[in-house]
Amino acid sequence: MHENNLTTPLPERAFLVGIAEKGSHPLLSIEESLQELALLARTAGMDVVGQTYQNVSRIDPATLIGKGKVEEVQEMLVASDAQAVVFDEELNPRHQRELEQRFGEGIKVLDRSAVILDIFAQHASTREGALQVELAQYEYRLPRLTRAWTHLSRQTGGGGGRSGTGGVGLRGPGETQLEVDRRDIIRRISKLKDELEHVREHRAQHRRQRERAGIPLVALVGYTNAGKSSLLHAISGADVYIADQLFATLDPTTRRISLPSGRQTLLTDTVGFIQKLPTTLVAAFRATLEEIAEADLILNVVDVTHPNVEQHIETVEDTLAEIEVPPIPRVLVWNKIDLLDDAARLAALQESQSTNTHAAQVAVSARTHEGLPDLLAAIERILSETQHSVRLLLPYERGDLVALLHEQATVEHQEHGADGVILVARIPPWLVARFEPFQLA
Ligand code: GTP
Repeated sequence: MHENNLTTPLPERAFLVGIAEKGSHPLLSIEESLQELALLARTAGMDVVGQTYQNVSRIDPATLIGKGKVEEVQEMLVASDAQAVVFDEELNPRHQRELEQRFGEGIKVLDRSAVILDIFAQHASTREGALQVELAQYEYRLPRLTRAWTHLSRQTGGGGGRSGTGGVGLRGPGETQLEVDRRDIIRRISKLKDELEHVREHRAQHRRQRERAGIPLVALVGYTNAGKSSLLHAISGADVYIADQLFATLDPTTRRISLPSGRQTLLTDTVGFIQKLPTTLVAAFRATLEEIAEADLILNVVDVTHPNVEQHIETVEDTLAEIEVPPIPRVLVWNKIDLLDDAARLAALQESQSTNTHAAQVAVSARTHEGLPDLLAAIERILSETQHSVRLLLPYERGDLVALLHEQATVEHQEHGADGVILVARIPPWLVARFEPFQLA
């Protein structure tokens, strides 16, 4: 990276702008969404100096917010001595261009996606994470190449990106990198995709090893800052990076844990979710997120103390649907109960989720370890309920089903018989009906 600049400039003074479209029904109110944006901006190292929003009946095709509001924001920027304006909505390249023109040279125009990408760039620590972020940054930047784009060109909050790829970094890229032309970027994107493909093949091999070993996989998912890493640490005793920051975990960390019976399982942490996760990032992290689809059980970790916890649950469910996670059993884990004074609130929340399709709900504290034995017992019970051992005879022309088994089940044995492939496998419940006709006694 290019940010190893020891003279850390002051954090950028950022002004936030939201937009509430009449007739739309967003998950979070505009105030809540701006509050979240402020947290994101601070995590990226910025100093939030003010905010405003506009109710609109239609998005202005040129400037997102109305012309009058642009002028009003401009005055606020001057009054608050802001250096950057951050929009809560994703700006399309035209908005970006027009707003930059209107606000003038001294103001950086950013959006929520740029801030999230910046945080991701700071947190990517494995090669795959760094490659994914770099790819997302290039893809985000490509259509916006109309003007030298300086983004968050300063070092913040100590450390800066740990990415080892020397990537574009929304923070502190040198001038020359900003001038990289379109063709170079396109070439770089294709190279990154190739590199990622290699990394993924490597990972697929690991997965096959795991399958052969027959160890089930439990995936922790959850809204950013819910406490996934803390829980992984509490359960496995491993040294996992935990920070009161958004997106501290970017790269999946996997630990082997013992269940009450002594049976082993793998527990893996994943990237935190957030509403309005930039599409470029969802696409870039698709492969990492798809690991979730390979899990035998999903723990949806939620922060019981957060006022928007129900919206967080919904966002996580929506993201899982977006990446087409099959109906893997889920456990809703209400974390941080040590901070909860009001037991009635937990009961009410649990009741509100009772119609949801969770196999269990467990209340825990990753901090005090309260509830962890219940959680482990629930994991054990659901895993043993969900895996069905089967012996199958699949005709040779059903190579599709053999492939499906290898993808979605644990194949313990496979041999070629006279009439087809004979397989012994442990299959998840949603595949049982599909393979019923091929079961051997
Ligand atoms: P991302 O990396 O953003 O996905 O976050 P995460 O879900 O991995 O959260 P993490 O484990 O980093 O925890 C976020 C913050 O919540 C940290 O400050 C933790 O110390 C705190 N925290 C996590 N679990 C508990 C808990 O049970 N009780 C209390 N009081 N704090 C907790």
